[in-house]
Amino acid sequence: MSSAAGAAREADAALEQGLLEVLLSDHGAAGPYEAYRWLRERAPRLRTGSGLVVLSGYEDCAAALRDRALGKADESLGFALAAVPEQLQRRALRRFRRTMLFRNPPDHGRLRRLVAQVFTPRHVEELRPSVVARIDELLDGWAGRDEVDAVADLALPLPVGVIGDLLGVPGSDLVATAPRVRALVAPLEPSADVDAVREAAEAEDELAAYFADLLEVKRRRPDDDLLSRLATAHGDDRLDDDEMVGTAILLFAAGFETTTNLVGNGLAALLAAPEQRHRLAGDPGLVATAVDELLRFDAPVQTDGRTALADTRIGDLDIPAGQVVLLLLGAANHDPAVFTRPSELDVGRREAPPLSFGGGLHFCLGASLARLEAAELFPRLLSRFPHLTPAGPPRWRRALSFRGLDQLPLRPGRED
Ligand code: HEM
Repeated sequence: MSSAAGAAREADAALEQGLLEVLLSDHGAAGPYEAYRWLRERAPRLRTGSGLVVLSGYEDCAAALRDRALGKADESLGFALAAVPEQLQRRALRRFRRTMLFRNPPDHGRLRRLVAQVFTPRHVEELRPSVVARIDELLDGWAGRDEVDAVADLALPLPVGVIGDLLGVPGSDLVATAPRVRALVAPLEPSADVDAVREAAEAEDELAAYFADLLEVKRRRPDDDLLSRLATAHGDDRLDDDEMVGTAILLFAAGFETTTNLVGNGLAALLAAPEQRHRLAGDPGLVATAVDELLRFDAPVQTDGRTALADTRIGDLDIPAGQVVLLLLGAANHDPAVFTRPSELDVGRREAPPLSFGGGLHFCLGASLARLEAAELFPRLLSRFPHLTPAGPPRWRRALSFRGLDQLPLRPGRED
């Protein structure tokens, strides 16, 4: 290696390290968007010292999501920046990684097909009355209280309850299983270390044992829910045992970590922009653009990852087969080339779809369900509690990929 190339590589390694520190620092927790802007202006297609390609522009991320040469790696989780031994990576999430989220065609299509039938717009629409009933019940619980935590008292129980119903997970089991999900998804964070991956492996074993038992119950006594559909599928639709258990875990996890953060981050954003909050409260017709804007403004999933299955190219950057690519979706959503004044919330914005649900083959299966939950929730919350105010500082979780709040203390105020 020439000394110039060596120096460039050292500079990139320092940039990578510095960037990660900024993104995960307290300042980063309050908002990684300044750090993203800094990166996008200096190195929108960064090749890091550890050999990762990091994309932060909207067009590049959108192109990478569409590019069939960029897929999922078979063996490793790939985009952890810290060194995690290959063997442990392979051991972790053994079943989770046999689901659609981690597979390429033709396996991907086979694994997605059966479940996709339940997430069509028509099916999701049928869930609307029960979602509304759940929202009303949770908001009833706010009435007359001096203070609530919008995470524990709304953002978490709403999606957990909705996905629990859809899958057929008994309500009494939700409290115990939900915290394991957070440990499970930790290795998808770029900051994941050996301990996080080890804990994820344990969490997966526990969740797998739970869902294997539940699927067996559903096989013997099928009900009108998604796990029964998985457990009783025949012929080409039938998944093997690990795939079935992995899919149950995936749907359960994907169904609420993310939607919790849409509700929490969205509410925090509206509280910080009173003019936009009143605009939405006064015109519920804006709800569709408002939900897209909340998804864009502070995306629940900030990163996505791909591995090159063949040589390809993004803009002027050659990407050789085997290259791991980290997509900063949250940065793409704030790209000024696509969004005017990206750091301002505008509930009527109609510029480009946010990349918050990913794109291409792996486009989020639950997008219409998440949108439905948010679209029913925000107008109800704002009209029922028009005097809602913060009761203390929000507490952000120290995580980059799954960006969300641990706590959002609020005073509901008097009802209208
Ligand atoms: C995939 C985000 C809610 C199920 C994805 C992906 C993203 C995402 C970014 C793409 C991952 C990739 O490219 O590798 C979100 C956000 C949500 C949300 C921001 C809420 C605001 C949901 C819900 C469900 C769900 C409610 C329903 C159970 C899935 C599944 C996939 C997925 C199954 C994998 C699709 C595939 O690989 O083909 N989601 N999600 N998500 N999401 Fe969501």
